[in-house]
Amino acid sequence: MAIFTSSTQAIPESGDVPQHVAIIMDGNGRWARKRFMPRVAGHKRGVETLRTVIKACVARGIRYLTVFAFSSENWRRPPEEVSFLMNLFVSALNDEIDRLHANGVRLKVVGDLSPFEPRLRTLIAEGEARTAENSRLTLTIAANYGGRWDILQAVNRLVQARPEKAGDYREEDLAPYLAMAYAPEPDLFIRTGGEQRISNFLLWQLAYAEFFFTDRLWPEFDAAALDEAIASFRQRERRFGRTSEQLTAGREPRVSLADPVPQDQNA
Ligand code: IPE
Ligand code: IPE
Ligand code: MG
Repeated sequence: MAIFTSSTQAIPESGDVPQHVAIIMDGNGRWARKRFMPRVAGHKRGVETLRTVIKACVARGIRYLTVFAFSSENWRRPPEEVSFLMNLFVSALNDEIDRLHANGVRLKVVGDLSPFEPRLRTLIAEGEARTAENSRLTLTIAANYGGRWDILQAVNRLVQARPEKAGDYREEDLAPYLAMAYAPEPDLFIRTGGEQRISNFLLWQLAYAEFFFTDRLWPEFDAAALDEAIASFRQRERRFGRTSEQLTAGREPRVSLADPVPQDQNA
C-alpha cells in the first residue's frame, strides 16, 4: 500500500487542483421541504447530484472524492427515514456500479458496516472488489462513519497488533489502521447546506484541509459550484505551520551575496 505524507509530519505537495476532496452532502431534507415534498425526496435527488459531482471530479483530474452519506449519529433519525436511506444505498449501488466501473472509478466504503443488512454488505463488497483495480478516481462513501469511531477502531487494532509498544505509539504507527489509510489526506473539505461544522466526519484526516462552506443545498450543488470551491481553494496560502515569508522565499530564486555575480557573455 502506498504511504502518503502526513500533513503534521512532512509538508505535502499542494497544487492548483486538490488531489482529495471531501464533502458533507448536507441539505437534502430542507431542499425537499422547500418544495413541499417529503424529506426523502431530497435524498433521492441527492444521489443524482453525487453522480454529477463524480463526473466533474474525474474531468478535473481530482484523484480522491470522499462523501459523507450516513453518519454514526444519523441512526437517531426517524426509523422510516433511516430505512429509506438504507434502501436508497442498495438501489444506488445496484444502478451505478457498472457506470462507475466503466469510468475507471474505484469504490471504497468506510464506516462500521456491521449493523447493515447482509444484502447491502454483499453489494458493497462486490462493488469494491469489482472496481478495485481502477485508478482514475477513488470514490469513498462514508456510511455509518464517525471520526471518533475511526480513531478508536484504529487504536484498538494497533493495540492488538503491537501490544509491546503500548505507551510509545507514534503517529505513523496509528496511521495505517485508520479507515482511509489508502488515500492522502483531504486537501479541500466542502460542506453544503449552510452549517459550519464537521459533524464527526474525518476528524483525524482533516488536520490541514482547507474548508469551504456554502449555503447551497446538496441537491442544488453542481459542477459550477465545485469550481467555485476549487477557485477558493486556489486562493488559500497553505502554510502548514510555516510563515508566509518562508513560502515566498521558497518560490523565488535565492541570490546570496556569496554567490558569484553572473557574467554577461556578450558584454
Ligand atoms: C444530508 O441531508 C443527508 C444525510 C444526512 C443522510 P439532510 O437529510 O441532513 O438534510 P437537512 O440538513 O435536514 O436539510
Ligand atoms: C452530516 O449531516 C452527515 C451527513 C451528511 C451524512 P447531518 O445533517 O446529519 O449533520 P448535523 O446533524 O446537522 O450536524
Ligand atoms: Mg443535515
